[in-house]
Amino acid sequence: MEDAPAQRAARLLRTAHRMVVFTGAGMSAESGVPTFRDDLTGLWARYDAAQLATPQAFQADPDLVWGWYEWRRTRVSRAVPNPGHLAVTTMAARIPDTTVVTQNVDDLHERAGTPAPIHLHGSLFTPRCTAVDGHPAPLPPDTEAPPEGSRIPPPRCATCGHPVRPGVVWFGEPLPEAEFAAAVDAAATCDLLLAVGTSGVVHPAAEIPRVAARSGATVIQVNPQPTPLDPVATVTLRGTAAQTLHGLVSAAWPH
Ligand code: OAD
Repeated sequence: MEDAPAQRAARLLRTAHRMVVFTGAGMSAESGVPTFRDDLTGLWARYDAAQLATPQAFQADPDLVWGWYEWRRTRVSRAVPNPGHLAVTTMAARIPDTTVVTQNVDDLHERAGTPAPIHLHGSLFTPRCTAVDGHPAPLPPDTEAPPEGSRIPPPRCATCGHPVRPGVVWFGEPLPEAEFAAAVDAAATCDLLLAVGTSGVVHPAAEIPRVAARSGATVIQVNPQPTPLDPVATVTLRGTAAQTLHGLVSAAWPH
């Protein structure tokens, strides 16, 4: 039997006209992609993800940081979308005016059939040159996954010889302007925002659900743990993305 919040969330979903799905690392956790709050394991255990994901770390030790991102990229390439990603695609098919906004740098939404999620923090699959204009650089061939803890020198840009860097947003860097503006606009004009698997602490991305709430939208949150978004959410479902979103779709559209 469904509990009351799940029934309420299903009703809100069924009656939504304009939806934003806002996802964080917890969305991909059940695909085997670690979140940022998980401690790094194995040979990466002595490092802190929040410290590796900075321009300062790349400047100080490019081989360490490039090696870490290559390990993550190959790990993500071998991961598969989970039932939560698939449920998001189904929701977007049911509510055609849906915008998926993700903080994740993986491509699991796309591979689950969501064609153009807005990536607020960039992508593991769009490396770029460290030259000022940041022109795109080719993705290294996806050969064997490097052993955990490998230091790998970043490739040199074929055009100008600068080192190549991951195409992600690091702590302290601005978000891509057009993507952030589109996400704010979608949040300000939606009637339902579904926040999934995000700690809601990394700004400015964490503004997105707050913008929706301030603009009068209903906010549903899916997270197994309490977060600072709890007071913003109209309904919180304490569960994992894969289980909860799959259940939500079945409850909202049983036939
Ligand atoms: P975090 O790693 O901060 O938080 C992950 C959230 O997912 C936590 O609230 C967990 O409780 C929740 N969670 C864990 N397992 C889950 C599951 N199976 N289903 C649903 N939720 C689950 O990730 P983000 O909020 O995405 O930025 O972090 C935001 C940004 O901080 C990231 O994009 C990254 C990071 O540092 C940059 O790299 C710039």
